[in-house]
Amino acid sequence: MSKTPVSPLKSVPLQSSVLRFWHRGQILNHGNVPPDRTLLDLLREDLRLTSTKEGCAAGDCGACTVVVAEPVAGKLQYRAVNSCIKPAHAIDGMALWTAADLASPQGDLHPVQRSMVACHGSQCGFCTPGFVMSLFALYQRTVEQGQSVDTTTAHQALSGNLCRCTGYRPIVEAACQLQADPAHTLQEAPIVSALAKLEPSLQTTLETPLKPKGAANPPTGKAVASYERPTQLSALLQLRAQFPQAQLIAGATDAGLWLTQGLRRMPQIIDLTRVKALQGIERYPHHIAIGAAVNLQDAFDALAQDRPVIGPFGERFAGWPVRQSGTLGGNVANGSPIGDSMPLLIALGAQVVLMSWRQGRVTHRHVPLDRFYTGYRQSLMAPDEVLAWVVVPRPAPEEWLAVYKVSKRQEDDISAVCLALQLHLQAGRIAQVRIGAGGVAATPARAVLTEAAMQGQAWNEATLARAQDTLEREFSPLSDLRASADYRRQILRQLLQRAWLESMGQNHVRLEELV
Ligand SMILES: Cc1cc2nc3c(=O)[nH]c(=O)nc-3n(C[C@H](O)[C@H](O)[C@H](O)COP(=O)(O)OP(=O)(O)OC[C@H]3O[C@@H](n4cnc5c(N)ncnc54)[C@H](O)[C@@H]3O)c2cc1C
Ligand code: FES
Ligand code: FES
Repeated sequence: MSKTPVSPLKSVPLQSSVLRFWHRGQILNHGNVPPDRTLLDLLREDLRLTSTKEGCAAGDCGACTVVVAEPVAGKLQYRAVNSCIKPAHAIDGMALWTAADLASPQGDLHPVQRSMVACHGSQCGFCTPGFVMSLFALYQRTVEQGQSVDTTTAHQALSGNLCRCTGYRPIVEAACQLQADPAHTLQEAPIVSALAKLEPSLQTTLETPLKPKGAANPPTGKAVASYERPTQLSALLQLRAQFPQAQLIAGATDAGLWLTQGLRRMPQIIDLTRVKALQGIERYPHHIAIGAAVNLQDAFDALAQDRPVIGPFGERFAGWPVRQSGTLGGNVANGSPIGDSMPLLIALGAQVVLMSWRQGRVTHRHVPLDRFYTGYRQSLMAPDEVLAWVVVPRPAPEEWLAVYKVSKRQEDDISAVCLALQLHLQAGRIAQVRIGAGGVAATPARAVLTEAAMQGQAWNEATLARAQDTLEREFSPLSDLRASADYRRQILRQLLQRAWLESMGQNHVRLEELV
């Protein structure tokens, strides 16, 4: 990890409660938007932009999908996001499109809309605006860049959109025909230049109206609302130390649901995604370090470069919009026992780097992930600490890795059980084994007893049988709406069996290969 500049907090006029973004050719400026106002509520209720619909308000269905873009090296980078769980302030300094913004002022439809009409993809009024926006993001990422869209890319782009009337086929067809329409070029330069003018005030979010720990309440007696977007690591850590009561967020794909489903209020939010020092992925000879502001898609892509088996596993994590907003750091810090990345990271021997601001300087410590969790959604992270990096060892030549997720739906669903197995095989013997499991205990867990039953043994059917028996007994899973305890135990056995077969070169039958 590179050295980060350290600068003490300065008192700078507050800018962070004013929300500025580009929409329909101009910068919109909104004062007094509460920190926990969702983007969907801002659009529908405050701005009366009602083309964006609310379906589930949980990031699940995609009805509320809008597209945001931010300048990176002079070009816009487009993302489809679930506006229902995105705090409105998270899009400060970005450009925004809703389904009502695609047709020209003269009423000419955008190619994605024309394609949806031509393929009869336009169905109910709830889901269609969301599908169209996912296709618009896809169009900007591919067709506008001269690339074509195939079924795989279409499925990926639409993986966060549910249609309850089962009309996916014409929508996928519409996606695959996008390149047939004459290219439609969005003029990015004026948007980039309008957004660039906002940048200086984006840097000035160090000052804070939050009430420091132990300080008297402000005269009104009310805690002052604030949405903080520090850009420097030292500022983030100082905010975290001074205001432990504030809600820290990254992509808000978990925290957003606490607003809409848990009806929680968050008067004070610290958003870490603008911290430049945490936006990188750094490769070293022995490990990869993934910054806390890196989104899940980029994180899984980086891990899959070393270990291709992680690619398809990453595709099973939520849907495209959640993977584009949510972070690996957020998944690990949130500590859900059914979080997907942790069994894998435990099997890989990953560590987390926790950072804090103590005694006037940045401090840090490394904690192995298998020792990080202390109970249900509890960890060793102190209230003033931030999970800054996830550090993953690079593979040894003798490594063999398997990682499986079992969920009710293929896409956009959370695990019933997750299992990751890393073996170092030498002359047919298990020289090293690490197993991570999810959905089977109060925390993501390491299967130490099963590892002990395998360590040093020949990798054969007898060892497999012993390992299966041990693994089945090692955890006491719960029965819940995702699976019964018995099912979970059985699945652990079966996944180990599958790993054995795959390690012997017998790859499982894939349904797609039968058609
Ligand atoms: C539709 C949908 C599908 C989903 N599918 C899956 C799935 O398949 N698998 C899965 O595992 N999860 C899934 N999730 C859950 C969620 O997307 C992930 O847990 C995600 O990684 C959370 O990251 P985030 O950046 O959005 O965290 P946030 O929501 O911003 O934060 C979550 C929590 O972590 C804390 N936090 C975040 N970053 C840090 C940090 N750097 N340091 C300290 N604390 C931090 C926050 O304070 C908060 O308490 C899904 C969610 C939705 C809405
Ligand atoms: S309303 Fe369903 S994802 Fe937002
Ligand atoms: S398009 Fe809305 S249910 Fe199918």
